[in-house]
Amino acid sequence: MEVVICPDEAQVGAVAADRVIAQLEGKQTPVLGLATGSSPLNLYSELQRRAAAGDVDFSHALGFALDEYVGLDPEHPLSYRQTILRTVVKPLGMNAARVRVPNGFAADLQSAAEEYEDAMREAGGVDVQILGIGSNGHIGFNEPTSSFASRTRVKTLTQQTRDDNARFFEEGETVPTHCVTQGLGTIMDAHNLVMVASGEAKADIVAAMIEGPVSAMCPASILQFHRRAFVIIDEAAASKL
Ligand code: GLP
Repeated sequence: MEVVICPDEAQVGAVAADRVIAQLEGKQTPVLGLATGSSPLNLYSELQRRAAAGDVDFSHALGFALDEYVGLDPEHPLSYRQTILRTVVKPLGMNAARVRVPNGFAADLQSAAEEYEDAMREAGGVDVQILGIGSNGHIGFNEPTSSFASRTRVKTLTQQTRDDNARFFEEGETVPTHCVTQGLGTIMDAHNLVMVASGEAKADIVAAMIEGPVSAMCPASILQFHRRAFVIIDEAAASKL
């Protein structure tokens, strides 16, 4: 695991963009693993800037998102499908038809999850998986106690994650209780991992991920076992190291 500490959030985005672009260089069909959440937003803005400058071209890239809520219409503005289209696909000039998000609205969720895994395999795997970290150490929606060998599947969201994400939903709207998420085993298959985190609120969990024992109680700690995991954080998120 390589850890880079930057003075601020903007620098985190810039350094992470350098990594992502370097790892995609020379690929005819780059395969990007996409994450939602506020953490990678600076990275996406930076990638958008570099694409506009002609440094990189995402129009032929394939994209696979990490996760999706179960039971939320894919057209719902808070579905991760719409979030990814709005915050990543459009700004980066990706082709929406080449970007997949797990299907949380399928009649048979398990078959849909297996098809998702097949599509990732057929694409030759993910070149660079972008990751944020949840306040309880989740990556994707792999909550504490998730199996290190897990593949894309349905999971129950913890109350903490539902509370963390409630801010995005309208008053009176129920935060979904379940999700479909790539497993920890799926994420670990990506050729490169780029994790970004910033702010003091992430300091404890970032320390647990980097310096704590590898434990299912902190799913992100599995990154210690990845040969090409880059963790890019600001000084506030690094303050407990
Ligand atoms: C969600 C997503 C994760 C993300 C996490 C942290 O739960 N499923 O992929 O990393 O939130 O979000 P934020 O970056 O907004 O702190």
